[in-house]
Amino acid sequence: MVNIAVLASGRGTNFEAIAKAVKTGKIKKAKIRLLITDKKDAFARIRAKKFKIEDIFINPKEFKTREDFEKKLIRILANEKIELVVLAGFMRILSSYFVKKFKNRALNIHPALLPVFKGTKAIESAYCYGVKVTGVTVHFIDEKVDHGPIVLQESLKIKDGESLAELEERVHSLEHKLYPEAIKLFAEGKLKLKGRRVEIL
Ligand code: GAR
Repeated sequence: MVNIAVLASGRGTNFEAIAKAVKTGKIKKAKIRLLITDKKDAFARIRAKKFKIEDIFINPKEFKTREDFEKKLIRILANEKIELVVLAGFMRILSSYFVKKFKNRALNIHPALLPVFKGTKAIESAYCYGVKVTGVTVHFIDEKVDHGPIVLQESLKIKDGESLAELEERVHSLEHKLYPEAIKLFAEGKLKLKGRRVEIL
């Protein structure tokens, strides 16, 4: 069993999709040990209660530096013997200190086809740019934002006349399918890194 911690800051729909996939046996070889949030009122915390997953709120304001915050985070992850960190809408940039500790053991999801439309509001940026194709990327984290080796990527065609809200809904549904798939592959030991390239065994 791979011990997972999910880190989220907001709604937590990806967290819920992953929790469901574990509960229903779509992901068999992993267990979500904890949800960690950096926002007291993150809706993800309510979802954690529903799935009876332990949830820990770390208040960033209690720490002088980012490194102090991350030391606390790492202590918690070590205590729970976490082997995979899953960032699911965790809106905090993690330093190279954290990245080194969880090298090739921390995933992130991004609602666009990286390397384009990095950062926040990616769906809106792609929509406003007028691209015909966008999608979702799951990747390992590295020192740069939305940058590490790509595990899975899937595209969506933007339909003529589609509203931003409609596109957002389709992108999120795709996220909820793709993230559990990537975690399943990791848990089954099927991801092999060759530099930036992630091979699926
Ligand atoms: C998701 O769309 C995720 O891709 C995005 O935040 C949202 C969180 O939603 N992350 C990024 O944009 C990272 N650059 P959720 O809280 O409902 O899972």
